Amino acid sequence: MCGIIGYIGKQKALPILLDGIKSLEYRGYDSAGVAVLDNKNGESRIYCVKSPGRISVLEEKISNQENDIGGFLGIAHTRWATHGVPNEANAHPHFDCGQKFFLVHNGIIENYKELKNSLIKNGHKFSSETDTEVITHILEDERKKNPKTPLEELTLKALKNISGTYGLAVISVEEPKKLVVVRNFSPLLVGIGDGEYIVASDASAVLKHTRQIVFLHDGEIAILTPEKHKIFNLRSESVTRKPEKIEWTEEIAKKGDFPHFTLKEIFEQPEAIENSLRGRLLPEEGLVKLGGLELVQDKLREAERIIIAACGSAYLAGRVGEYMFEEYAGIPTEVDFASELRYRKPIFRKNDVLLVVSQSGETADTLAALHEAKQKNILSIGIVNVVGSSIARETDAGVYQHIGPEIGVASTKAFTSDLSILALLSVFLGRQREMSLTMGRRIVEELEKIPHLVGQILKNKDQIFKVAKKYKSYNNFLYLGRKYNMPIAFEGALKLKEISYIHAEGYGAGEMKHGPIAMINKDFPSVVIAPSDSVYEKIISNIEEIKARRGPIIAIATEGNKEIKQIVEEVIYIPKTLEMLTPILSVIPLQLFAYYIGVLRGFDVDCPRNLAKSVTVE
Ligand code: AGP
Repeated sequence: MCGIIGYIGKQKALPILLDGIKSLEYRGYDSAGVAVLDNKNGESRIYCVKSPGRISVLEEKISNQENDIGGFLGIAHTRWATHGVPNEANAHPHFDCGQKFFLVHNGIIENYKELKNSLIKNGHKFSSETDTEVITHILEDERKKNPKTPLEELTLKALKNISGTYGLAVISVEEPKKLVVVRNFSPLLVGIGDGEYIVASDASAVLKHTRQIVFLHDGEIAILTPEKHKIFNLRSESVTRKPEKIEWTEEIAKKGDFPHFTLKEIFEQPEAIENSLRGRLLPEEGLVKLGGLELVQDKLREAERIIIAACGSAYLAGRVGEYMFEEYAGIPTEVDFASELRYRKPIFRKNDVLLVVSQSGETADTLAALHEAKQKNILSIGIVNVVGSSIARETDAGVYQHIGPEIGVASTKAFTSDLSILALLSVFLGRQREMSLTMGRRIVEELEKIPHLVGQILKNKDQIFKVAKKYKSYNNFLYLGRKYNMPIAFEGALKLKEISYIHAEGYGAGEMKHGPIAMINKDFPSVVIAPSDSVYEKIISNIEEIKARRGPIIAIATEGNKEIKQIVEEVIYIPKTLEMLTPILSVIPLQLFAYYIGVLRGFDVDCPRNLAKSVTVE
């Protein structure tokens, strides 16, 4: 997803802007640019440099500029192309014909085509194919009609013509001490420093400067000058917003000794799960404590159905949650792709509860599904990692993951944290209903062991690397699982697709005979999740069926199971735990398997091609 950085203050803007967009690289991008307002010999001018490719290419281009770019005000952007190919012209910042207004944008201008046609008819010359550029030319027209209007009001006038989503940062050569930012469905926050402000798409880019953050809400505009900041809503009413303190340290947002964020975050999982569970387990009472749900606990007691809506890995975590809630809380549960729920005609009932799961808290489809449920006055709760994110703020209640920033595009620690919190929720809801003290205790006591058990699996990384090395050249994989581990088959396949670009298909093992088995041969390996659980015998039959077609098999099995070694090519063991918690363990080898193959294939595993960390557009 696109990344926005803005700076105004007493330091040179350019190095801060470049450093800021580097912190946002993990979001995925294909071009980058900066615009800095400098005042040489009393004349204000905006210097703009853009380029396709990595930020290092942009830096090279800047160093080749004849003028050194000074200035204490600027904006920068990493672009994830939505309209127009990744090239210099389409990179942000964009500017108007007179090069008075420069801006960067995250989001989509839905009505840009008709706006662009009418602007061209009025004589405007466009330099890009992007939707964003229309805003600069509308600003130019508004200026002609309102020669004295301050930049913030001019921006609000311009946005009256716009429909769509935007996070915007705007500067103008006419007002060299002002940075205007607007948020409408694309996240933007303001870091408050000492006599300076850093604007960013997410907190990881401001941590080295400040931890005092003001999160803009949708429909708000902030006017930043070196002396002060003001926030208004789009009706020009003043907004007072207390800064929040971001607890993440800058260190957390660094790779440390790991070659990639993805590997770091895979190995952080014992600690991340511990943090998600911290202070929430009451083994004596067989209960869990979820402070974020206390205000709605009575409504949750009345809940007659849970609808889980999410995307990608978060959706697959929800699929595991469905089994947990139905088996242990006795609540009918449905899981929907958020991108489907928002467009189909969901039949909500009075005592339904919508549960949205989102690490970033900004995924457009998940946010839209939430809005749909709120429209129908359905109680909404969330499982979210990013404090102050849209979903965290707009749900009626929720549970924070407390796992620190997840930088790698492929979700790992967020996924196992989701599963851990879904297990907490099944105890929370179950103990409001039929779940006994004994069962509550059993789950809580087993949850306490999970971080250690995950650590045990990670110690086996060398064997998993060997298996990855052996299978790295295959071009197709079938991932199979049953019951709690069926969603893990899909998640394992998603990891391999995302990180190594190999075609991998997740499937319910029981469905294999209804088609996919036709693909199996010696060149088509299967990864089968086969813990010693209630459906183990069934999965062994599936393994035999694959074997009969000479398909190579990599099995994830429970420690101590010697039998399976006789019938498959590779076995990766995981410790024994409750059936409902095995997904937290069985996914670990699949994450490492995908990571190692991606590295062995020479890909950028932290920023896989075409992917973005937070999909804030539809
Ligand atoms: C998973 O590895 C992907 N990065 C992606 O599917 C992700 O899970 C999905 O976009 C949801 O993101 P969210 O949790 O931030 O809403």
